[in-house]
Amino acid sequence: MQFNNIFLIGLMGSGKTSIGKILAKKLKKKFFDIDHEIINKMNLTISEIFEKYGEKKFREMESEILDALTMNENAVISTGGGIILNKKNISKMRTIGIIVHLDIDIKTQIFRVKNTKNRPLLDGENLQDKLKQMKQKRDKIYKKISNITILVTKKNKSRIVTEIEDKLQ
Ligand code: S3P
Repeated sequence: MQFNNIFLIGLMGSGKTSIGKILAKKLKKKFFDIDHEIINKMNLTISEIFEKYGEKKFREMESEILDALTMNENAVISTGGGIILNKKNISKMRTIGIIVHLDIDIKTQIFRVKNTKNRPLLDGENLQDKLKQMKQKRDKIYKKISNITILVTKKNKSRIVTEIEDKLQ
């Protein structure tokens, strides 16, 4: 069976949601964002979910929503940065889609996320250290599991989308 799904993965602030929306429109595919599906289902913000139920529960929900979305065909699915922390999530994505990694450097990432709310893993002090640690742990996984990697630094959205389309061919 051909599923024709595209999963966007990458660190926080790499543009998975905004690029996903544009890409889906251009390719005439459905669009889903896993974080938004969780927010809608729980009727709580991501920060509230972390606060009330903890990260473990959030990760369970993330996998549940991924499972539910994998019933779809022909969709662009933007994931949360931590989707790759669970091996089952990785194999699910690999089985039914193409994985596109939006690769971002720390400097650009800090600039993009420093004033954002609703990213509970970045709350508190030492933003730079937190991001560096996450990058160190996760980048090798993103790189290993993705079919396509696009460096997003210093590129506008339409260029990023065009690069993805080119590489999909
Ligand atoms: C997370 C990334 C967030 C969200 C949650 C955890 C992570 O999504 O899922 O705050 O572990 O990197 P974005 O990558 O869309 O910010």
